[in-house]
Amino acid sequence: CGITGYIGNQDSKEILLKGLEKLEYRGYDSAGIALSNDSGVHIFKEKGRIADLRSAVDGELFAQAGIGHTRWATHGVPSRSNAHPHQSTSARFTLVHNGVIENYTLLQQKYLQDVSFQSDTDSEVIVQLVEKFVGEGIDAEEAIRKTLALLEGSYAIAIIDTENTDTIFVAKNKSPLLVGVGDGFNVVASDAMAMIQVTDTYIELMDQEMVVLQKDEVTIKNLAGEVVNRDSYKAEIDASDIEKGTYPHYMLKEIDEQPLVMRKIIQAYQNEKGELEIAEDILNVVKECDRIYIVACGTSYHAGLVGKQFIESMAKIPVEVHVASEFSYNMPLLSEKPLFIFISQSGETADSRAVLVQVKEKGYKALTITNVPGSTLSREADFTMLLHAGPEIAVASTKAYTAQIAVLAILANVTAKSRGLNLGFELIHELGIIANAMETLCDSKEEYEKIASEFLPFTRNCFFIGRSIDYFVCLEGALKLKEISYIQAEGFAGGELKHGTIALIEDGTPVIALATQENVNWSIRGNVKEVVARGANPCIISMAGLETDEDRFVLPAVNELLTPLISVIPLQLIAYYASLHRGCDVDKPRNLAKSVTVE
Ligand code: G6P
Repeated sequence: CGITGYIGNQDSKEILLKGLEKLEYRGYDSAGIALSNDSGVHIFKEKGRIADLRSAVDGELFAQAGIGHTRWATHGVPSRSNAHPHQSTSARFTLVHNGVIENYTLLQQKYLQDVSFQSDTDSEVIVQLVEKFVGEGIDAEEAIRKTLALLEGSYAIAIIDTENTDTIFVAKNKSPLLVGVGDGFNVVASDAMAMIQVTDTYIELMDQEMVVLQKDEVTIKNLAGEVVNRDSYKAEIDASDIEKGTYPHYMLKEIDEQPLVMRKIIQAYQNEKGELEIAEDILNVVKECDRIYIVACGTSYHAGLVGKQFIESMAKIPVEVHVASEFSYNMPLLSEKPLFIFISQSGETADSRAVLVQVKEKGYKALTITNVPGSTLSREADFTMLLHAGPEIAVASTKAYTAQIAVLAILANVTAKSRGLNLGFELIHELGIIANAMETLCDSKEEYEKIASEFLPFTRNCFFIGRSIDYFVCLEGALKLKEISYIQAEGFAGGELKHGTIALIEDGTPVIALATQENVNWSIRGNVKEVVARGANPCIISMAGLETDEDRFVLPAVNELLTPLISVIPLQLIAYYASLHRGCDVDKPRNLAKSVTVE
C-alpha cells in the first residue's frame, strides 16, 4: 500500500491524488482520500484504481489538509468499506495505514470489545484505540503514542483529528515513510517520487518515530515523546523519468531502455583508466567472506540465481541464494564469515527487509543491490550498489532484472580480478557487445508479437525449459508470462521435466526452450524432442553459432556466461504481447503490487 498526506496553503486534493497515482505500484485494488477543512473531514473512497477515486472526488471541495491511500489488500477483500481512510466510531479521527498489525485481534479483544468495527481490516484497530484513549482523558498526541506502543507489526500511518485541523500525526515502524518539506506546506509519502512534483527536500524517519506535521513545522519525536532532530536531504529524482512518453505501456518503454541502462551501468562502474571498479570497502568485504548468501524475492531472486553462477565461476566464492520470506524460518547453517547480499529493485520489500534486520542483529555484514538510492534496504545495509536503471514503473520487472544481473557480473568480475584470477575476457567489452545485442533484439518486436500470437492466444499453460544458466532465465520468463497474461507458466530444468511434469504436456502445449549454452545444446534439444513426441508445440530460442533449422529465433552471439542478459528479452516481449492480445492490464496486472511492503 502507499500513503500520502499534505498540510499547507494550497488545495490538497490534486496533490494527494497525483501522489497516489505515483504510488499505485504499491497496490491498486482500492483507494481513498480524506480532505479536511473548516466544514469537517470529507472522505472519498472507491474500489479500483486512483482513476476511479478521482472521478468520485468532489472537484469543488477546497481542503488545506488531507491524507490518501492506495491499497494492496492483506486483511479484508478489496472493497469500498475496507478501503482507507478509516474513521473512529465518532468520526473524530481518520487514518491511513500501510503495513500489518499482527496483534490486532488481541487488541480488539482486550480494549475494544464494545466497538463495532466498520471494516475487516487490521488497520481500523489503530484509529479506534486512539479514540478510546482520548475518551479516557489524554490528548490526541499522547493517545496516538500510547496506541503505537501497543502495536506489533509494521505500520506507516497518517492520522487527522477533526478537533485539531492544523496537524497531521504521522508514525512509522518497519514500513517506509518520508516527510517532505516545502515552503508554506509539508507533506508525507511512502516514497519521494510521489511528492517530487511539490518538493525535493525530504526528512528520513526511523522506526518507532512519530511526527507532528504542521504547515510550517515538522516535529519528530520518539515514542517516549522526546524531540529528535534530523537534517533534511535533497532527493535526486528526475520527474521526467517517470513519464510514459509516447509508449503505450511502461513495460514496453522499460524493455526498450535496457541497452541504455547497460551503458549507464558500464559508465557508473568504470574508473578513469576505463576499467570496471567497485567501491574498495565492498571489494574488501567480498574478498574477506567465506560464503555469500543472496536474499531476494520474485524477479530479484531470479537475478540472484544467475548472480550465483557469476560469482562462483568468476570469483570462486561459494554462494547460496534464498527466498527472503523463507529465510527466517529455514535459516541455513551459516559459515564463519558470511556476507549477505540483498537484491531488491525497490529496496523496500518487507520480506527482504525482515531478513536484513535479523542479519544485522547478529552482527553480519550486508550489501544491498538496489535501484533506489535512499531506500530502506539501502539505508540499513552496510553497503549499497546501485542499478542505475531509472525508475521502473510497470509491475513486471524488466530493466531492473538485467541491471541486477549486470551489477552482479561486475561484482564477480572485479573480485575475480583483484584475486588474480584470469578470466580470459574483458567484462567491460563484453557488456558493450551485450548493449548492442539488446538493441538488435528490441528492434525485432514484430517477431515476438508473431510468436505470442502463434503460441499463446488460447493456451491455458506454457512451459519454459532450459539447462544450466538458461534454466534460471526460464524461471524468469515463466514468471513474466504468469504475472501479466495469467497463463499458467512454469520454468523447468530441461532434464527434470520428464520426472513428473511432462504429464501435463498435451497436444499443442507450448514449450519455449532456450538453447544458448554449447555444453548442453544437444541435451536441451533432446528434451524438446521428448515433449514434441507427446504433442507439444515447441519454440526454440537459440544463440548464433548453436542454431539449427528447427529454431524459431536466433539470438546474436554474446559471451556464453552473460547470455541471461539477452535471452530474457524475447521472453519479456513474448509475455508483453501475450498480455496485450489477451486484453490484460500490462502495467498493472491483477492481484499484484510492484513493491510489497508487508511480510
Ligand atoms: C513484488 C513484485 C515483483 C518483484 C518482487 C521483489 O512481488 O511484483 O515483480 O520481483 O516484489 O521486489 P524488489 O523490489 O524487492 O525487487
